[in-house]
Amino acid sequence: MILLLKHVHVICAVLSISGYLLRGVWMMRESPWLRKKWVKVAPHVIDTVLLGSAVLLTVRIQQYPFVHGWLTAKVLALIAYIALGTVGLKYGRTRKIRIAAWLGAVAIFLYIVLVALTRQVLPFVA
Ligand code: HEM
Repeated sequence: MILLLKHVHVICAVLSISGYLLRGVWMMRESPWLRKKWVKVAPHVIDTVLLGSAVLLTVRIQQYPFVHGWLTAKVLALIAYIALGTVGLKYGRTRKIRIAAWLGAVAIFLYIVLVALTRQVLPFVA
């Protein structure tokens, strides 16, 4: 069961960043694809399943955000990813700001993956 949950979680993480990268390219090209309804709805569905599986996983392994550092780091980084993500794709006033925020969100996503794999708040420090 835990393995299935982990697979669902990781697949949703891959779909989440793939969709975000693609929407970033569309943002830079000012593509009309970005305004399609399913393009706006799909990320919410994926991210809801990603978070739902995250909650179930924390219960399964009995490690929780604000108790265990690496999970606290994941939650805080996820909030930063979402915030920068919306600036990158939507709220950034200029194209430069949107691209900078988009790159920042991608970097934060990579940090979350490293935290997940190492269970360390600072995965790049030995
Ligand atoms: C963008 C957001 C996220 C990404 C990219 C992500 C990525 C991952 C990855 C790649 C794994 C598999 C690690 C392994 O192979 O052992 C994992 C596991 C896990 N994640 Fe996430 N995650 C995200 C958000 C969250 C959040 C917000 C939570 C908790 C509040 C969470 C809780 C967990 C737990 C409990 C595991 C299982 C760890 C284990 O059994 O070793 N994840 N995550």
